[in-house]
Amino acid sequence: MERFGPRKFISKKIQTFRSFADGKKILVAISGGIDSLVCFEIVLNAVKDQKDRIVPLILETGLLRENEVRETQDHFNKKYRIELQKWDRQDEFLSALKGIILPEEKRKIFRDVFYRNMSQAMRSYSTDILVQGTILPDIIETQKGIKLHFNVLHESGVNPLNYGLGLFEPLKELTKARVRMVARSLGIHPRYLRIQPFPGPGFAIRISGEVTAERVKKIRKATTIVESELNSPKIFQGFPVLLVDKVTGIQNDTSVTGDIIAIRIVEVTKDSLLARPYRVPWLKIEKITKRILNEVPGIVRILYDVTPKPPGTIEFA
Ligand code: XMP
Repeated sequence: MERFGPRKFISKKIQTFRSFADGKKILVAISGGIDSLVCFEIVLNAVKDQKDRIVPLILETGLLRENEVRETQDHFNKKYRIELQKWDRQDEFLSALKGIILPEEKRKIFRDVFYRNMSQAMRSYSTDILVQGTILPDIIETQKGIKLHFNVLHESGVNPLNYGLGLFEPLKELTKARVRMVARSLGIHPRYLRIQPFPGPGFAIRISGEVTAERVKKIRKATTIVESELNSPKIFQGFPVLLVDKVTGIQNDTSVTGDIIAIRIVEVTKDSLLARPYRVPWLKIEKITKRILNEVPGIVRILYDVTPKPPGTIEFA
């Protein structure tokens, strides 16, 4: 098998993009993670000095990590001197997800609201092509029927043209490890090489049961704590999940009813298709537990997930 060369990959994608785009205007869906940033750089290299043909846009779903939108906007200003457009639809996502409990249903609703908005944004910025950072594991898992990754359209029977989208997905044949190799070769800021993968539907799938503004607030705060405590390069993803059950706890000598958070930290053994629980040092798990219990109101119990993938998936939903 031919060895993977990031430089060759980049120049091939630039060529393909040039003939595909044929002078048209492009909207690049930015998520705050590495995949979409790599897509953006490929497109930027392809259009050269015609920067005004590209509109990078982040859809504020209300389900993203703390400060993710602002920090990504700052990065675009500093590094590219290009304004990252924000399309704010937090209320629309929350109301569409109201009362929805089943993970696959959440994903389908998320997909629908997401692409409806992308399509509106494309019209509003007069763009013809949507570039997005779908990667190989998303496609494999969707095709195998394990999980519907919201961004996998063709392969799950959704015609992007139904949303009026001309789609360009340059990373479709790459694993996460290869995306990182390409990112290095493009000179992407090291922060984005270290950043943990975050699923497109965001906190919608890190909350079991109903997604409400109050529950998103809790999981967002807990996520900031968990991520800030983890720094081992062995860790692929480490995050909290808000469980659906309410349990009894004690606060100020009084019985209270509160929430349970499960902590999931994994190392991956074959890209993200296989994973094993990370053997987190006990002192670290104690510190994370203490911080969540003290800093996130309403949480009274913390569990540590020791399930490998398979049979568990990395995310709970
Ligand atoms: P699972 O939970 O299937 O996750 O073991 C494998 C990897 O995919 C991420 N993930 C998603 N990424 N859209 C994405 O772009 C999605 O709908 C989605 N669901 C899961 C997950 O975080 C892990 O890195």
